[in-house]
Amino acid sequence: MGFGSNVRIAPVAKLAPIRKAVVPAAGLGTRFLPTTKAVPKELLPILDKPMIQYGVEELADAGVEHVVLVTSHGKEGLAQFFRPSPELEQRLFDGGAVELAEMVRGISSLAHITTVVQEQQLGLGHAVLTAKESIGDEPFIVVLPDDVIVGDVPVSRQMLEVHQRYGASVVAVQEVTREAVGSYGVVDAHEVGKGIYKVRGLVEKPAPEDAPSNLAVVGRYILMPEVFSCLERTSPGAISEIQLTDGMGLLLEEQPMYALRFEGTRYDGGTPLGLLKASLEVALNREDTRDRTLEIIRNLDLEQP
Ligand code: UTP
Repeated sequence: MGFGSNVRIAPVAKLAPIRKAVVPAAGLGTRFLPTTKAVPKELLPILDKPMIQYGVEELADAGVEHVVLVTSHGKEGLAQFFRPSPELEQRLFDGGAVELAEMVRGISSLAHITTVVQEQQLGLGHAVLTAKESIGDEPFIVVLPDDVIVGDVPVSRQMLEVHQRYGASVVAVQEVTREAVGSYGVVDAHEVGKGIYKVRGLVEKPAPEDAPSNLAVVGRYILMPEVFSCLERTSPGAISEIQLTDGMGLLLEEQPMYALRFEGTRYDGGTPLGLLKASLEVALNREDTRDRTLEIIRNLDLEQP
């Protein structure tokens, strides 16, 4: 997929690289019922690769060594997916499917993966807070696995450059239409560099007329560890959930925060149609699947009601 990067910033104060990340994957996935009765949403594939694999590959590319998966009871398949499968690998090797065997092996060596269980689905902020002990006192990346972002330079790496430059928290934003702002957290921010904004405030799901901008927060965050004490002080909102946006709002009262309008394409894998669109676009962009996908689309019976 051809997306050039505009985010090339020389770091002023070189910070230690970010070593840890949180991948919240404990949600109920109600929009994918009945499948999610048995299969974690995050393991559903975009064409042929689970959404969560995209996220963990992105983190490995950004130099993250330790990924904390937040899971819940019944979603044990998530940890299983990242464990080595020596018997399967051996069978594939023995059968001559060497590339496939190496691909399977590669998944378990992407990063050191540990899990923490979110006992109750009390929201994204609560899921991140569940990882507090595993992260400790250092900045970390949060990747929401159902927000799949593809492009030339992985989005986490683009954000790391901004973090290195400013030594602060960074959220990923994308421009959305005025009508769409009500589905997102939106930043109140002013541009300080190409695609980089200093954040003044965060508003969750504003009415279009009240939105401070059309820059919507999507599922990538680099957070300073002080966010944990902010989340601890965040009271559950109207639907009894601890929102990450609210915790970040408190963090913003204490320290600066930046937003990056990243380069790349984001797919909303949290809905069946979003996942369908993602699979189609990925299939159309891949050499080995493009022609057959075009043929399938051309042969669709569009007259069907
Ligand atoms: P979503 O907002 O998509 O919620 O969460 P969900 O529960 O997965 O799906 P729906 O809305 O019921 O269809 C975004 C990410 O945050 C995780 C989810 O697993 C998903 O990866 N999450 C959400 C948690 O880990 N814990 C929560 O309490 C809520």
